[in-house]
Amino acid sequence: MMKMKKISFTLNGVEKEFEIDPNERLLALLRRNGYKGTKYGCLEGACGACTVIMDGKAVASCLVFAFQAQGRSIVTIEGLGDGPELHEIQQALIDEGAVQCGYCTPGMVLSAKAMFDENPTPDEETIKVQMDGNLCRCTGYEKIWSAMKKVSASHRNGGKR
Ligand code: FES
Repeated sequence: MMKMKKISFTLNGVEKEFEIDPNERLLALLRRNGYKGTKYGCLEGACGACTVIMDGKAVASCLVFAFQAQGRSIVTIEGLGDGPELHEIQQALIDEGAVQCGYCTPGMVLSAKAMFDENPTPDEETIKVQMDGNLCRCTGYEKIWSAMKKVSASHRNGGKR
């Protein structure tokens, strides 16, 4: 049995303490603690299913050691939305029919959130470049891009973020 170690970080806006195995990845730590919206995918940082936001940047949580989260701010899909109300990115994906099996969706939403937080009105090319680390086996991407373009357009027209 590995020696467990304590760390603390802000998770979805709340300061939390966790016991970690020094070798475990942030992905495993989150899921072990019930944050199962963060998905196992390729475990090589190539598919985007495990994306979380760390200090404002989208990262592949399979490539981050749990101890590297010490003192940081982490946002998972469980931190989005307001009670029963979905986050605008989630709503846009649903409205466009861009969710099929849904396995890629949490990572997709978090990559998009990091993008929109940095640039509220990305154009189509920027959306495609920013989202290219998130693979989707079902949708063919068109509907996902269309949802992102709608969010961007709503920001351009003064919609809420
Ligand atoms: Fe199935 Fe994207 S909706 S992988």
